[in-house]
Amino acid sequence: MQAKVISSFDKVIDVPVEGVTTFNEKPAVLEKYGKEIDRVLISKECIKRRLEAMAKEIGDDLKKFKEINCLVVLKGSIFFASDLIRLLDEGTPIRTKLDFIQCSSYGDKAFPNEEVKIEKYGDIEGEIILVIEDIVDKGGTLRKLQEFLTKRGKPFKTCVLLDKTQDKNPDLQLDYVGFKIPREFVGGYGLDYAGMYRGLSDIVVVKKELLKLQ
Ligand code: IMP
Ligand code: MG
Repeated sequence: MQAKVISSFDKVIDVPVEGVTTFNEKPAVLEKYGKEIDRVLISKECIKRRLEAMAKEIGDDLKKFKEINCLVVLKGSIFFASDLIRLLDEGTPIRTKLDFIQCSSYGDKAFPNEEVKIEKYGDIEGEIILVIEDIVDKGGTLRKLQEFLTKRGKPFKTCVLLDKTQDKNPDLQLDYVGFKIPREFVGGYGLDYAGMYRGLSDIVVVKKELLKLQ
C-alpha cells in the first residue's frame, strides 16, 4: 500500500487508510517489525511537521497567559508531550510548566472504557491547563479528565495527537488535534499494544491477526 505524500501541515490532517508520509520510500521500521505491523500510518517526518504547526497555533492562541501548565496523560503521551512542550517553550512566547496524570480503565474486556480511574501526579495548578493526550477513541478518558478539571474549576484546553472518534462525540472538548485517523489499532511514538512499540518513531498500524491473539 502506497502512503499519500503530503506537504501542508497547517490544519488537522485527515489521514487516509493508506497513511501519510512526506516522501516515497519503504519505511525502515517494517524491516524489523514487518510480521507484527501492517503499515506505517504516519511517518516521523509528518509528525514533526504537524507538531511544529500545532505549537505555532497553540502559541498564538494562548500567548495572553503568563504561563501554561501542561498536564501530560501517562504513559502514551510522553513522546508527543516532550516534543510539543519543547516546541512551545523554544518557538513561542509561552512559558511552560509540567504535571502528569494517569487514567486507567477498568470493567470487563468488552467495555474497557466504561469506568476510568484517575491518579494524579502534581498539583495541577495554574492560570490555564493544557491537557496533552496521545489518542482519543471512544472518549471515556478525555471525558473523565474534562469532568475532573471542570469540577475543580480549572480552566483548560485539550491537545490530542490522534483522533479516532470520527466526529461522533460532540461533547468532547477537542481544542487542538494533530491527525484524524481511521478506526484501527495503532502503536508507536509512545502508543503501545500490550506494552510494545512505544519506542518507534513512526505511528504504525498493528496487524489485526495479532490483536486477535490476545
Ligand atoms: P478512549 O477512552 O476510548 O478515548 O481511549 C483512550 C485510551 O485508550 C488512550 O489514551 C489509549 O491509552 C488507548 N487507546 C485507544 N486506541 C488506541 C490505539 O489505537 N493504540 C493504542 N492505544 C489506544
Ligand atoms: Mg492515553
